[in-house]
Formats: sequence, C-alpha cells, structure tokens
Amino acid sequence: MIQNIRGTKDLFFEEILKWHFVEEQFRKVSNLFGYNELRTPIFEKTEVFQRSIGETTDIVNKEMYTFLDKGGESITLRPEMTAALVRCVVQHNLYNLFQNLRLWYFGPFFRYERPQKGRSRQFHQYGAECIGSPYPESDAEIIFLAISIINSLNINNFSLEINSIGNLNSREKYKLELINYFKDNINYLSEESKNRLNINPLRILDSKDENDRKIIENCPNILDYLDDESKEHFDILINILDRSNIKYSLQPKLVRGLDYYSHTVFEFRSNRLGSQDAFGGGGRYNNLIEELGGKPTPAVGFALGVERLILIMDNSNHFVDLKNKIDFYIVYSKYEYFDKISLISNKLRKYGYSVIFDIQRKSFKSQLKEADKLNSKFVIIIGEEEYLNNQLSLKNLSNGVQKTIPIDSIEAINLYL
Ligand code: HAM
Repeated sequence: MIQNIRGTKDLFFEEILKWHFVEEQFRKVSNLFGYNELRTPIFEKTEVFQRSIGETTDIVNKEMYTFLDKGGESITLRPEMTAALVRCVVQHNLYNLFQNLRLWYFGPFFRYERPQKGRSRQFHQYGAECIGSPYPESDAEIIFLAISIINSLNINNFSLEINSIGNLNSREKYKLELINYFKDNINYLSEESKNRLNINPLRILDSKDENDRKIIENCPNILDYLDDESKEHFDILINILDRSNIKYSLQPKLVRGLDYYSHTVFEFRSNRLGSQDAFGGGGRYNNLIEELGGKPTPAVGFALGVERLILIMDNSNHFVDLKNKIDFYIVYSKYEYFDKISLISNKLRKYGYSVIFDIQRKSFKSQLKEADKLNSKFVIIIGEEEYLNNQLSLKNLSNGVQKTIPIDSIEAINLYL
C-alpha cells in the first residue's frame, strides 16, 4: 500500500468541516477589516526565500524543500508567505495602486521539520500583511486583525508576547553587546550557537537548546539598546494596546525565526498545544521590500498556523455535532423511475436544496438505511402509488411526520417542511 508522505495529512469527512468553518471566518473577518485576498504559486525561485528569510535561519539552512526543475532552475516550495507576497507586490507594482495595501492569504506551506503534534511538513497558514505605513497604528491594526480572527474561532485561552528588536542602528549596537556576552560564556554554548555567534548573534536567542537557553536567560536586554526612534515606535504601540485593553506580555528575548524583522515582533501562544505552543507570529519588516528589489516601503504582518488553531479548538471541544448533512434523500422502488427522480432532484437543487438518490439499484430498505447514514433531514419516497399519481411522500426524519404532496407543487416544498 502506498502511503502519504511523512508529516502530511489527508483530510476528509468531519475533519474537512472544521476547515470549512475556520476558512469561512478567515474570509469574513479579513473582509471586515478591508483586507483583500492574495494568492501566489506554491513554489518560487529559491532566491525569493533565501534572500529574505536569512541564510542563517533554520528555515533556509535546514527546512526548505528545494530542488532543481527539469530546466535546471532552483525552485523552492514556499516555507512561508511574506517573501512570496513581497515578490508579487514588487513585480506587479501593487503598492503604486494604494497608499496602504491590505492583503490576506490562506494556503499550504512546506518545511522539512521533524513531525510531531502541531508540527508537520505540509501545514497551512492564514496571514495578513499591511504594506505602506511606518507608523505603530498599522502594527496595532495587524494585531487587532489577528485577535479578531482568533476570537472569531472562539479561542480565548491564549497569550500575546511582544517585543521590539528596533531599527538597524539599535540592533547593531545590541549585537555587539550580545557577542561580548556570549563570548564570555562560549564554553556553555551549543555548536550551532557558537557558529552563529559572529554571523548572526540574534539567532542564538531563538535557540531551542537547553544549555543555550540557560545562558540566554541572563543576556543583555534589547529594550535597553533601542534608539529614540525605535523606542518611540514601540512605546506608542504599547500605549495603543493598553488603551484598547489588549493583554500582552513583554518578552525582551523574543526575536522570531526569520531575519527580515525590524521594530515590532510578536507571537501568540496557547497552553492547549503542548510543546509547539506558538500558533502565530508576526512583526514589522521595513527593509524587506527594498531588499527584494522594490522601492523602500515599510510593512507589518502576521501568520497563524491553521493546524494549530484547529488543535486548540479540538482540545477546547469547540467542534460539537459536526456532521455532513443533506436536505433530501430520494428513495424509489423501481430503477425505471430514474428519469423522474432526476427531474425532481434537479428542481430541488435549483431551489438550493442538497439531494442524493440511489445509483446502486439498492433495495427500498437499503435506500432508507442509507438516507439515515447520510444524515438526511428528509426522505422523499416515490413508490408505485406515488409514481402513478404524480405525487411524492415527504418524511421528516427527525420527527417521523409524513406528508403527501403533488410533484407539480415542488416549487413550494418549503411550505411542507
Ligand atoms: P512563522 O512563525 O514561521 O512566521 O509561522 C507562523 C505560524 O505558522 C507558526 O506560529 C505556526 O503556528 C505555523 N507553523 C510554522 N511551521 C509549522 C509547521 N512545521 N507545522 C505546523 N505549523 C507551523 C511566518 O511564517 C511569517 N511569515 C509570519 C509573518 C507574516 N511575519 C510577517 N508577516
């Protein structure tokens, strides 16, 4: 038997209804904030991700699905959307159309990680990007949108962790301090962190290694190194969050796993997830658009992991009584009645009802059984008597009430339901 690839998942029946529910909220809430959907291909030229996410990140170093296509071009299955979205915005000059671009997306992403609960190799993200404003008001809008999406899924057990990694100037100063600090503790650092020390010391703060974590605990605090501009940006955002009654915790060690950020970075966590407890993250990326060949344009955004959202909802019992249901199952006693059944079905479908009827030449009794199994709300019965009198019997499966109505009045079937 051929099996699916490790770290991927097949979705069907009740499971897919959960996805329909969350996808519907994504559309609805994005629309409420005036965000437009954007879709890009699931693969890009490798440089799109290499240049933006950063050569020293785990994503670029270890996790990308990169291959040469038959034309010899290096292609990568997208590990995240921001870089691909920026590629698209620059290519089509989308930022010339509006002063502020408000975009959202949903789709599959790929990272070669060790699969475990909440971590897969193909996963899905919902995300949004607000392009064009350098002001903290747009960071706030993005956080409001993320929280509205989370609330629309009835998820209320979560925390928002926030930090500022400042502008380039502040970060350079901070990096020097970090290098000094880690050099003093070099013997305790993991090999990977030692390697990162001189290339990108900020990456060490994102290390999952236990010994590294102990050293990181006492390292210098980035908030002490923010210059006036960076500090003002962050202070205003924090003030907005306070005034809006949004709960957050300041996490001065939060740097995120991608290199394109500046100023604000944030993450959403839930205690309903186990070890992979971050179900979303984002931040500001003021230099990325320019780095990918566009005109200098500030931007901020976030993404939520959809598998993790659904896991939280599962663990909070949010999905009760999810069943595929149909309105009508038509039971008929002779397969010669097929044409008439087709006609009735098509009419009902025209009025917006879902209809199934037997195509296996099953017995009357088996058809009734199947109607039950498929959670049909009503059964329509066409036996010989109904067929000859051009009638149908309509049975409500929840209360057993049965009525006979002329087939000619099927347009008004809602009056009988
Ligand atoms: P990220 O933190 O790499 O950010 O991913 C966002 C979310 O995607 C994570 O919090 C997690 O829920 C989910 N996720 C990531 N990897 C996996 C995986 N292997 N299995 C399951 N879920 C996963 C970004 O991707 C940025 N592009 C976010 C952003 C948008 N920043 C600015 N704009």
